[in-house]
Amino acid sequence: MKWTAPRGTRDILPGEVEQWQWLEQTFAEVCRLYDFREIRIPTFEHTEVFTRGVGDSSDIVRKEMYTFLDKGERSMTLRPEGTAGVARAFVEEGMQSLPFPVRLYYNLNLFRYERVAKGRYREFHQLGAEAFGAAGPEMELELLSLLFAFFQKLGLREVSLRLNCVGSFADRKAYNEALRAYFAPHVSELCSDCVQRLELNPMRILDCKVPGCQNWVDQAPSLMDFISPTSQAHFETLCMGLDSLGIPYEVDPKIVRGLDYYTDTVFEFVSEHVGTQGTICGGGRYDALIEEMGGAPTPAVGFALGVERLLMELQAQNLLPTVQMGPDLYVGYVGDRALERARLLVHQARTLGLAAQMELTGRSVKAQLKYANRLGAHAVLILGETELETGMGRLKWMQTGTEDPVSIQEPDAWLSSLVAKRRKEES
Ligand code: HAM
Repeated sequence: MKWTAPRGTRDILPGEVEQWQWLEQTFAEVCRLYDFREIRIPTFEHTEVFTRGVGDSSDIVRKEMYTFLDKGERSMTLRPEGTAGVARAFVEEGMQSLPFPVRLYYNLNLFRYERVAKGRYREFHQLGAEAFGAAGPEMELELLSLLFAFFQKLGLREVSLRLNCVGSFADRKAYNEALRAYFAPHVSELCSDCVQRLELNPMRILDCKVPGCQNWVDQAPSLMDFISPTSQAHFETLCMGLDSLGIPYEVDPKIVRGLDYYTDTVFEFVSEHVGTQGTICGGGRYDALIEEMGGAPTPAVGFALGVERLLMELQAQNLLPTVQMGPDLYVGYVGDRALERARLLVHQARTLGLAAQMELTGRSVKAQLKYANRLGAHAVLILGETELETGMGRLKWMQTGTEDPVSIQEPDAWLSSLVAKRRKEES
């Protein structure tokens, strides 16, 4: 039997992993500048954390969760997103007693049983941030400015910020009633998902991509007419703040988001390059979630970036760093005496900070050189009787084919200059 990875999951191999590490480190660095601290949470939670947190009417809870009974007959779910788990941890770990706002970031793998497509997986990854305890639009600005700084650091262009205000739960209740009345006469023309949405959450019809449904969206009642003056003022201040920071955005009434916990501000960063899965990042305010998780009412805002989609976008814009695959130094040998010396030399090279490999499978000299070449080794030294006798070897630079004489007895000097050379090339 030859096994394959489950549909919608993938292996991330050396060569690609370094690009992930670069992205993760760049995100961590930007989060440090904004004084966000990392949080790590469990991969699975009690199912209720998501049914209550993300909400019964969301696609995630209705049809996408990996839910199972554990051996104690408790219902558990692999996390489909990060916010509900972070909110659960915030309450459980007593973070309400920390100075507000509490600023957290994360790097998580997530699980959703979705229809697999380009940029849409069943196991995927998010870099995200959540801030608890700040009710004003300044907190949204802080997060959007963090995202903007991150994109700038990556060199990313052609990603646009779309912003909307979805009001309070009470505002939305009234709005959803109005939408039900508006869409009811057109029910036979809606897609099957939207027929269900009409019952559960009619606002989701607004961001349905099916053309038949889109026909009715433009004339639908506007959410803005249902939103309280306080929410409108919050949104206006946020927009003015974005203007003053020079962050471009577009107010888009069709951004309604697929998770139930949002209140007031919602936003997405959308790209033209990722096919139908153009949303790279989604987020917003969720002022009622902490209370829902059993904590004292605490305002909150956050976002999550889809790592796979962000990498696809960076690739499309030619912004991914080239990855050096081979070691800095490869040491081969002929004979047992030379083997001993090679072992010590490689150890010394590693102590000084070089990535080094030595011959381990007993290849011939010719095969050793071929192997070093395939590895992409930067420099190669092969030790034999002559080298041991004279105390000198020839360090071969694989890119140019040129050679330099080097001391075998006292290698510190040339190993150190190799370290300096590699550092210079990397920076
Ligand atoms: P979301 O919109 O469900 O929001 O996901 C955020 C991002 O994760 C999406 O924009 C997309 O880039 C990526 N993503 C989602 N599903 C998949 C998938 N199946 N395959 C690949 N990438 C995917 C949330 O998860 C919220 N927790 C965001 C948030 C944080 N709101 C407040 N705080």
